[in-house]
Amino acid sequence: MQTNTEIANRPAAAPAVAPLLSVKNIEVVYDDVILVLRGLSLDVPKGAIVALLGANGAGKSTTLKAISGLLKTEDGEVTRGEILFDGERIDGTDPDKIVRRGIFQVMEGRRIVSDMTSLENLRLGAFTRSDRNVAADIDMVYDYFPRLKERTGLAGYLSGGEQQMLAIGRALMARPKMILMDEPSMGLSPLLVKEVFSIIKQINRDLGVTILLVEQNARAALSVASHGYIMEQGKVVLDGTADELRDNEDVKEFYLGGAGDQRKSFKNLKSFKRRKRWL
Ligand SMILES: Nc1ncnc2c1ncn2[C@@H]1O[C@H](COP(=O)(O)OP(=O)(O)OP(=O)(O)O)[C@@H](O)[C@H]1O
Ligand SMILES: [Mg+2]
Repeated sequence: MQTNTEIANRPAAAPAVAPLLSVKNIEVVYDDVILVLRGLSLDVPKGAIVALLGANGAGKSTTLKAISGLLKTEDGEVTRGEILFDGERIDGTDPDKIVRRGIFQVMEGRRIVSDMTSLENLRLGAFTRSDRNVAADIDMVYDYFPRLKERTGLAGYLSGGEQQMLAIGRALMARPKMILMDEPSMGLSPLLVKEVFSIIKQINRDLGVTILLVEQNARAALSVASHGYIMEQGKVVLDGTADELRDNEDVKEFYLGGAGDQRKSFKNLKSFKRRKRWL
């Protein structure tokens, strides 16, 4: 039985849970002059898979690099806005410190070390760790991706799909709170895309890893994500739950097959309405 005092001491309403990652109105400039992100905002709740969709050159990879700090290695800089992870500012922080905070980026094009074996690549992913569970985590990665265990040669000789699996496995070895994935479907057959995305979903569910997923394959991304953002020319032009986006006529036309090369600007379409964000 609850006493009246206990009931009276209860907060009136549960406090809103702050997102794990919050990108607030950021501007990104390369080489001091090339403005690529123009006031981009997005939130990723803890434990969620959120999709970031958009055509070539929209600024998806730039967004991920702004979060992981890798922009610095390309002479890029966040010149406005802020990025909060777990409630703390991370914009301007060095990439290795961001990895230690718990964010790991799986780069576009896999970027595994081709003249090392899979096992060596996996060990490399654990470079920030000093605990003794590395061997157990290698077994865990092999459980998710059994074929990696069978391929003992150099990683450079793995198939495209296997290299993608290795890149994801290497990210898991860092025991991250959050993984930023840049186009995991790139260059994979439809069957393999299905397989890789089902493992992404499994990893999210089993390990509670939060995932920000950049994709051109909207169908695959929205099949695993709970929420999605669509960006164009350095800005978010539409966002919603995965179901809302899947049902949206313009998204269907643009990203789920339909328009083909006839694409106009998303902004001219009927459903475009950018919510004003006072950030
Ligand atoms: N290091 C860089 N220096 C200068 N400009 C860059 C750099 N990297 C990207 N850009 C420019 O920024 C814009 C966005 O690029 P970005 O790679 O973020 O797009 P994307 O949405 O990931 O595209 P894709 O789907 O083709 O991977 C492009 O116009 C690109 O030319
Ligand atoms: Mg990209």
